[in-house]
Amino acid sequence: MVTREPAGTRALASALAGTARPGDLISLIGDLGAGKTQFAKGFGSGLGITDTIVSPSFVLMAEYRGRLPLFHIDLYRLADAADAFAGGLIDERQGEGVTLIEWAERLADAMPADHLDVFIDGTGDDPRRITLRAGSAEYGRYLDAVPAWVEAAESAEGSR
Ligand SMILES: Nc1ncnc2c1ncn2[C@@H]1O[C@H](COP(=O)(O)OP(=O)(O)O)[C@@H](O)[C@H]1O
Ligand SMILES: [Mg+2]
Repeated sequence: MVTREPAGTRALASALAGTARPGDLISLIGDLGAGKTQFAKGFGSGLGITDTIVSPSFVLMAEYRGRLPLFHIDLYRLADAADAFAGGLIDERQGEGVTLIEWAERLADAMPADHLDVFIDGTGDDPRRITLRAGSAEYGRYLDAVPAWVEAAESAEGSR
């Protein structure tokens, strides 16, 4: 998909949140400034969260209340996965809500295979190319939830 404004990325994420279920795990992967936090903001509003979602860079994990609890994690400042687990980043309460992880690639093999990947390519004023990858059939419902109004990328070439 392509979005040309931050509001487009937020609206897409908000639509996807409609299909969220307890225990969902979503990785947000993209360069600094790609729009991972914009995606999280939109996803939160789709869950009915009215609190302002900000980058959790300094708190590691922020928790919000909506239709489902949202756990928003940012691993930007984390050296490796071991640190994340030592810090108690993944805990059983997350089974009751949706967990969004920015820089989830830093968890490497520690990231459960069963999750949705959201790749965001592009920074600055460039359009963003957003690719979803379901790690299991269970997450295929996010692909089905992509709204019809979202602009399709011209070809799958170069997508991940
Ligand atoms: N299409 C777009 N989608 C998302 N963000 C965009 C888009 N176009 C411009 N931006 C801007 O890019 C920046 C993305 O910031 P942020 O979401 O904090 O990135 P990240 O969390 O990936 O580091 C914001 O300043 C936002 O306004
Ligand atoms: Mg961010």
